[in-house]
Amino acid sequence: MCGIVGYVGSQVPSARPLDVVLEGLRRLEYRGYDSAGVAVVEPDGALVTAKKAGKLANLVELLEHEPLPSGTAAIGHTRWATHGGPTDVNAHPHVAGKLALIHNGIVENFATLKAELLADGVEFRSETDTEVAAHLVSRAYEQTGDLTVALTQVARRLEGTFTLLAVHADVPDVVVGARHDSPLVVGLGEGENFLGSDVAAFIAHTREALELGQDQVVTISPSSVTVTDFDGAPVEARRFTVDWDAAAAEKGGFRSFMDKEIHDQPHAVADTLLGRTDVGGRLVLDEIHIEESVLRAVDKIVVIACGTAAYAGHVAKYAIEHWCRIPVEVELAHEFRYRDPVVNERTLVVAVSQSGETMDTLMAVRHAREQGAKVLAIVNTHGSTIPREADAVLYTHAGPEIAVASTKAFLSQITAAYLLGLYLAQLRGNMYADEVGAILAELRAMPDKIQQVLDRAGRVREIARWMVDTQSVLFLGRHVGFPVAMEGALKLKELAYIHAEGFAAGELKHGPIALIEPGQPVFVIVPSPRGRHSLHSKVISNIQEIRARGARTLVIAEDGDEAVRPYADEVFWVPQAPTLLAPLLSVVPLQIFACELATAKGLDVDQPRNLAKSVTVE
Ligand code: F6R
Repeated sequence: MCGIVGYVGSQVPSARPLDVVLEGLRRLEYRGYDSAGVAVVEPDGALVTAKKAGKLANLVELLEHEPLPSGTAAIGHTRWATHGGPTDVNAHPHVAGKLALIHNGIVENFATLKAELLADGVEFRSETDTEVAAHLVSRAYEQTGDLTVALTQVARRLEGTFTLLAVHADVPDVVVGARHDSPLVVGLGEGENFLGSDVAAFIAHTREALELGQDQVVTISPSSVTVTDFDGAPVEARRFTVDWDAAAAEKGGFRSFMDKEIHDQPHAVADTLLGRTDVGGRLVLDEIHIEESVLRAVDKIVVIACGTAAYAGHVAKYAIEHWCRIPVEVELAHEFRYRDPVVNERTLVVAVSQSGETMDTLMAVRHAREQGAKVLAIVNTHGSTIPREADAVLYTHAGPEIAVASTKAFLSQITAAYLLGLYLAQLRGNMYADEVGAILAELRAMPDKIQQVLDRAGRVREIARWMVDTQSVLFLGRHVGFPVAMEGALKLKELAYIHAEGFAAGELKHGPIALIEPGQPVFVIVPSPRGRHSLHSKVISNIQEIRARGARTLVIAEDGDEAVRPYADEVFWVPQAPTLLAPLLSVVPLQIFACELATAKGLDVDQPRNLAKSVTVE
């Protein structure tokens, strides 16, 4: 939520500060697109800014007509509005005297601070909480003559969540940043340094980065990076190398990032499995730094997550309970945090998050740890906050997910959760090594099967284009098909703005069947007919029930399941797979359907309205 970029390095011939910042904003625009703005400091100490409501393209157009100098240092911001509407005036940067400041987060005590400043005669131009911070830092600089000290002093006074970046005309080759419960990483260059909400901001220039902790202040110049805490004491920041490059964050010939990321899914799953078995095929998860004795004693697992990540958690519940015989609860992080949940030292909390920054999930992680639970994070983004605060992290290796709506991260989260389940089952003696090995072999076959689903997507695309005027779509599934139905509905809502709901198919007759009227499209995820406890026949009955009432049934079924044919208006076939692993296949046609329908409606599938990736406010 809100993308932030900072850059110093005018001596590097290939990089003009303004261009570097605009390039960074382009890569961070998925974090918010209500407005965009930049501030540039010139070598002679002039400070200039430009900002514009709407997408980054509006700012770029403004700069074509009214160019800014390149400068020695620059900061840039792409906004997801919180305080104050998405207008030019409320866009960041906010200027106070010779200082410009940008902000991601919410300053919760801004009203008190603003009253104080108003009483002192300060005039405000915008309705934002950020402008308060700009005035405070500017005044603190006037008193101290040191931008780092000024920002540190103000950071101590602010309540809420924030990443702040500031530049000042008096120090033309310095950018200062502070973070409290909002993301900020440092990019390390030669004769240049970078700040960004995430590494995408500077990936075109460097893969070397520093992870900042909570409540830290960073000062970058072309030749130095210094980090302190909010008391001014020096801090050693952890260095890391980003394991993907700029090409991974480009569309690579696809018409949208969403389309590309859907097609990346075989790799996302394969990469998440990679390197996690030893030569004997035994599952090895070295990164789980929680004592084995603690994991053996776990008597309950609680998965906390939001949105799509929570649906990955629901799939995990079916697998982990079946393999490990440990009760698993799945809870939306924002509900978990505020309802006095029963967790203790014997609870393993699994926090699932693509961004690693979702504030609701972060708050739930902190709460769980305060109650004595161990927290294991399943996260995609290196250098993010949730892994730093968890006891252990199992990284997914989906690569950068740029489209706001999650696709490949979902499949890799499910994959990582399977690995965790198998690891626990192996450790706790619930499964023999050969049983674990057999499931791992099935898992390793999944990337090819996902590719087959992608190769067969022509028909689902065609149907999606025909359904461009559809007002409402329902999704039904049972067992692991239930979270898949929920995810299919979420994708359609957020990408195509169509009313969609996912139901457990067994729940239908307890109410939702009243929604069925002639012509109502209903996707049904049919479980495999193979296996002893298959729900196949029950779901077929559910299809018959809705068809009898006029529904148009769009069925996802596995190859060879001829029994579905008589009851389906359309069948999308997926390769055969063990029931627990089937979500990795059955969700793919639903992602493609939503993406294609939204594209046919002329919508921006990468940046759906009102949304932002990485929801860093509660
Ligand atoms: C939906 C979507 C969101 C995220 C949710 C959690 O397509 O992307 O529902 O899954 O906001 O985000 P992370 O995984 O970053 O914690």
